[in-house]
Amino acid sequence: MKLNGKKVLITGGARRIGAVIARHIAEQGAVLMLHCHNGIAEGEKLLEELPGTGHRIFQADFSIPGAAEKLAAGCGEVDVLINNASIYARTPADLPEAESRRYFEVNFWSPLALMRAFAVPERSSEGVVINIVDQEILRPAAENGIYAVSRKALADATLAFALEHACRGLRFNAVAPGPMIPPPGLEHSTMSKVLKSVPTGKRIAPEDLAATLLYIIANDSLTGAVIPVDGGQHLKNYEYL
Ligand SMILES: NC(=O)c1ccc[n+]([C@@H]2O[C@H](COP(=O)([O-])OP(=O)(O)OC[C@H]3O[C@@H](n4cnc5c(N)ncnc54)[C@H](OP(=O)(O)O)[C@@H]3O)[C@@H](O)[C@H]2O)c1
Repeated sequence: MKLNGKKVLITGGARRIGAVIARHIAEQGAVLMLHCHNGIAEGEKLLEELPGTGHRIFQADFSIPGAAEKLAAGCGEVDVLINNASIYARTPADLPEAESRRYFEVNFWSPLALMRAFAVPERSSEGVVINIVDQEILRPAAENGIYAVSRKALADATLAFALEHACRGLRFNAVAPGPMIPPPGLEHSTMSKVLKSVPTGKRIAPEDLAATLLYIIANDSLTGAVIPVDGGQHLKNYEYL
């Protein structure tokens, strides 16, 4: 698919990695439907800076059931959906149920609701969905149980949707990044420690992730793939200690 003039919904696109993705997509001539949660001011500023016209911003809290469905209705049919929004923190497998459910609401049910809205039976045009997950789906780190399971569930849903909708010209892929930037609130954490588990020894550039998304969108034969962009991290055990 060529992005010029195409309508692209990016969740969590106002700041951090989402904003890098938004810039790369807008540079290809796409019209952005930029979703944000708390980053509305940053998102509005970003849209002013982006090339092209017709970009819009939407606010939604995915921890509230039904919010993603409302977002989908507000955006209308999109050509490309990029599920980037997520929450991350240390989440042991025995996290209390309410908190576990919040992780699943934001990291699994909301992107799933957007995928469902994207693939409604009455849709006739081709389209591409990319779910950004985490290389931890392949090898969860200690104390990241619920986060990793919520991302793995989305990766698996990607494959199920890919198989079911391939004949309609709808493609579903996932990208599983390694460490790019420390999570919000953990900016003090030392990347050097995490990078011991990355064979290349290098932080993943958000631009490399964005380039992978452009490759997926452009490649009409690619569906049902989960692509690690992680410097080989999924090949190794975690060595945090
Ligand atoms: N950072 C890394 O090194 C790394 C590593 C592996 C995988 N990833 C994955 O790559 C993607 C981008 O990473 P990131 O570090 O930029 O992610 P992030 O900052 O943790 O989260 C991305 C966006 O999700 C939105 N969000 C958070 N809570 C939400 C809620 N309740 N409802 C709706 N939206 C909500 C936020 O939007 P607002 O800013 O508008 O509040 C935020 O900008 C994520 O899917 C992440 O899991 C990141």
